[in-house]
Amino acid sequence: MAKRLFIKSYGCQMNVYDAGRMADVMAVHGYARTDCADEARVTVLNTCHIREKAAEKLFSDLGRLRRPARNGGENAPIVVVAGCVAQAEGAEIMRRAPWVDVVVGPQTYHRLPELVRRAEAGERGLLDIDFPLESKFDRLPEEGAGQGPAAFLTIQEGCDKFCSFCVVPYTRGAEHSRPAAAVLVEARRLIERGAREITLLGQNVNAYHGEAPGGGAEWGLGRLIRALADLPGLARIRYTTSHPRDMGGDLIAAHGEVPALMPCLHLPVQSGSDRVLAAMGRRHTAADYVDLVARLRAARPDLALSSDFIVGHPGEDETDFEATMALVRTVGFAQAYSFKYSPRPGTPASAAEDQVGDAAKADRLARLQDLLNAQQREFNRLTVGRTVPVLFDRRGRKPRQLAGRTPAMQAVHVTCEDPDSLMGEIRDVVVTEAYANSLRGELADAPPPFAGARRAPRAGRAAA
Ligand code: SAH
Ligand code: SF4
Ligand code: F3S
Repeated sequence: MAKRLFIKSYGCQMNVYDAGRMADVMAVHGYARTDCADEARVTVLNTCHIREKAAEKLFSDLGRLRRPARNGGENAPIVVVAGCVAQAEGAEIMRRAPWVDVVVGPQTYHRLPELVRRAEAGERGLLDIDFPLESKFDRLPEEGAGQGPAAFLTIQEGCDKFCSFCVVPYTRGAEHSRPAAAVLVEARRLIERGAREITLLGQNVNAYHGEAPGGGAEWGLGRLIRALADLPGLARIRYTTSHPRDMGGDLIAAHGEVPALMPCLHLPVQSGSDRVLAAMGRRHTAADYVDLVARLRAARPDLALSSDFIVGHPGEDETDFEATMALVRTVGFAQAYSFKYSPRPGTPASAAEDQVGDAAKADRLARLQDLLNAQQREFNRLTVGRTVPVLFDRRGRKPRQLAGRTPAMQAVHVTCEDPDSLMGEIRDVVVTEAYANSLRGELADAPPPFAGARRAPRAGRAAA
């Protein structure tokens, strides 16, 4: 029987992608991935360091693994800590949780099989958090199991921007783009294995500048998207996460010119105050952001925007926060993530003296989220009654329920007779109801399911 590998991912989509690639490299060595932690021979915690809460989750999960690992014997799993906490705090992890067998960073997990082999041979405290000269992408086996109808593909990693608050440049290393030819090969493989949609990933994905196939000038993201759009079978392209400074003219134009590029963009702004943006080192103003959004909407009027916000960055006062609220009102977001500023070790902002108290952070976060949630509800509400193409990629929780995404990334649920037959298909759906985080609809080309039953008064109701 194959040995089992269990991977738990925290944090961003790049970690989800990395988990798949770790499974690919371990598959070559006879490991099959499992969703059941109890049967695992190797357990990988693929961690995130972005905020304190994310990092602390690791230590509570490690506490739970302590007993089986400590008891030793045949059934004790090899415990691996991977990802961004591994990179940032590898030695600390070994000190606080000596039952961890292997710590491996995001740039060296192609070496995981060798590290696990050594751990199985009895070596302890294996720590591999280099930023090696070789790229892991050149050492990993090809994309293995496939990811289903909606797949992730990392094209760019790392960051050279060093925003005041952020650990990513320390955990993922310097910015690096994969060659365009390698991206196209991996995309073709994902499509062969059932992908209809590919989301290109990178910490600054729109800073992409990859070696061109056959040499010549490097390709930017716009050029790469145009090439991907030509691949037969690929219906939808998305990309995330973008930095406003890297939103070039060709990429903006691609939003108007490439039908497969979905009208949806995650463009983190963090703050609407120029003073705070400067302190963050974002190198753009609020007005720059608003102008950029106007150019994007000129290219693609139905573009659904989402964003990230931090409240309570050092130095932020009420006036600054009101500027963020004003920017949100001006732009209008379909969706957003917002966070209380969390001081991260080694970052400049964590050493600043003008830290904001937690009560102010909590108050501002609540006000911002009220506004963002209202905008999201309104965006969803405006979809009701419209017919939208939905890519079905999951079963819903209820029987006969199928779930998918609209072009704008809204989750949609429909009920139909044979959900499995529609998996991986793009179908028109008439949206019937909108909720805070999802939509409900009916297939446009089928009679509404159970229409008769719904019109007939239900016995229970009638009697009540
Ligand atoms: N490269 C992207 C962001 C990647 S990190 C960009 O530049 O926009 C994802 C999000 O986590 C960030 O957009 C930010 O909103 C949030 N974040 C990062 N560091 C944080 C910190 N120290 N405290 C709170 N939120 C943080
Ligand atoms: Fe972090 Fe993004 Fe800034 Fe890079 S650009 S340091 S990933 S917030
Ligand atoms: Fe977290 Fe690392 Fe992603 S810190 S957000 S897992 S790049």
